[in-house]
Amino acid sequence: MTALLDDVDFAGRTVLVRADFNVPLATVEGVTKIIDDGRIRAALPTFSYLVAAGARVVVLAHLGRPKGSVVPALSLTPVAARFGELLGQAVPLLPQVCGDDVADVVSKMSDGDVVMLENVRFDPRETSKDASERGDLAASWSRLADAYVGDGFGVVHREQASVTDVARLLPSAAGRLVATELAAFSQVLTDPARPYLVVLGGAKVSDKLAVLDHLINNVDRLLIGGGMAFTFLAAQGYDVGCSLLEESMLDLVRAISGRAAELGVDIVLPTDVVVARGLHDTVSATVVPVNAIPSDHMGLDIGPVTAAAFSAEIVSAQTVVWNGPMGVFEVPEFSAGTRAVAMAMARSAAFTVVGGGDSAAAIRSLGIDESAMSHISTGGGASLELLEGRDLPGLLALDELVEPTLSSTHPPLKES
Ligand code: 3PG
Repeated sequence: MTALLDDVDFAGRTVLVRADFNVPLATVEGVTKIIDDGRIRAALPTFSYLVAAGARVVVLAHLGRPKGSVVPALSLTPVAARFGELLGQAVPLLPQVCGDDVADVVSKMSDGDVVMLENVRFDPRETSKDASERGDLAASWSRLADAYVGDGFGVVHREQASVTDVARLLPSAAGRLVATELAAFSQVLTDPARPYLVVLGGAKVSDKLAVLDHLINNVDRLLIGGGMAFTFLAAQGYDVGCSLLEESMLDLVRAISGRAAELGVDIVLPTDVVVARGLHDTVSATVVPVNAIPSDHMGLDIGPVTAAAFSAEIVSAQTVVWNGPMGVFEVPEFSAGTRAVAMAMARSAAFTVVGGGDSAAAIRSLGIDESAMSHISTGGGASLELLEGRDLPGLLALDELVEPTLSSTHPPLKES
């Protein structure tokens, strides 16, 4: 059984917390800003709890994919500043990932202090394929602390030093965010109220194949939008013009559609789409039925008839999981389908789960009421892998204390 925060006495203990603060950034006039701080806000309950409990908190986090070298544009500086503002106390960012200077600062922390280490992916050992290299970095962190809290839900599908290796070296617990995410996903995976509907979008079928394959065993209906819908339409013989089409997926898509039919699962495709000559040629945008896509146009959103049909399905279901936008929602002319789905999710009385970074970002950027959803996941790849029914290494590692010599160095954190 994975320990939770309430199972541990944190007072006066030094605790490593792995968070997923991989937030989108934009640099305007030389100033780097966070565009969407949703992942930082979602982590606050864990940190507020630990601070109130008197822990000394050392935050491990990454930003982007710097591939093991120091990339100044991927420094956690703006993240630490925003996190400190939201938490209501200063969160100093140490310029190192590990080492003597870090150990020195940590040894001088007081109860309730929080510090953040620089982007853990600046160190090549964090993402190394070699377990002993990762273990080396993990051991240097474990020597700083009495316990580990895994709360970076968006990275629990990664076998990385700060996610799995260090968790195996210290008494570990799941943070509040991970516990909340797991409760929501376990409800849809094990006991969904029916009808159970999944709305899938996003660019590529190839990214969603494994999840499609797993979901058709469990769902009642699958609604498909976004770029991936065009490969489904082409598999049925429609001419999709210049739309995104993954030719190599056509046979697999036909096989999945065939199996869905055998299982009695409806796969619902768009009947009309918004097309244009190109993403930036918005003046050519027009709505056409799927059997009349001009050969020099590409589909960039679901059309209004499809949006209304999808909305009606969402409102009348009992469980709805939505992953992936219906179109290129960042461009206003191609955002109506995603907005309609998001608004139907907000209106629906169903248990509604929004999975995936892009759908969550769409909800926030379109100004849809987040509190109207039952759960908005902070995980992109991680939530998809959970929906695929896979065991995620960062969750398993929380139960795998493998370093026996540490039991004397790290006594039990709470007497039962
Ligand atoms: C995410 O943004 O989905 C997580 O932070 C994981 O990032 P990664 O795909 O670079 O491992």
